[in-house]
Amino acid sequence: METAQPPQLPAPPRRASVVVTLPREESQRRVQMSDIFRAYERLIPITVLGRTFHVPEKNSLLRAFQYVSPETIPYGRFCWNQECQYCKVTCKLPDDDEARPMLACKFLVVPGMEVTELSPELKWCLSRKLGGGELPQPPAVEGRPTPEEISSP
Ligand code: FES
Repeated sequence: METAQPPQLPAPPRRASVVVTLPREESQRRVQMSDIFRAYERLIPITVLGRTFHVPEKNSLLRAFQYVSPETIPYGRFCWNQECQYCKVTCKLPDDDEARPMLACKFLVVPGMEVTELSPELKWCLSRKLGGGELPQPPAVEGRPTPEEISSP
């Protein structure tokens, strides 16, 4: 007795491959960044609460903090979009007479800038890099989960 054969499926369509050729100067440009940082060619010094760090030029101050502390800044409760205000710092620029408040997600780093005050969220994220030892409890923010609540099942 002969068994029924399953119907033959049509062959999958062949995928066309696309080859993109970049202009010569584009293909020769050195890539010195990961995907999260804007292109930069050098590190510049900034001071945060008296400590000097070298961070990628042409990036926001919050990205620079991420460069300094990649293990905590991505887990901070930052909107990265000038809305939450959790990245607020007080900063003195080299050509300023006095420090002024600014948003770290908005402002680009400048060589020699001095960050003199950090928001509680940034303090928590940078505490180890600033010599604070163990991380304190993150600041409570009404209506937003703590990192422990986010990581618990
Ligand atoms: S990260 Fe939200 S305002 Fe800067």
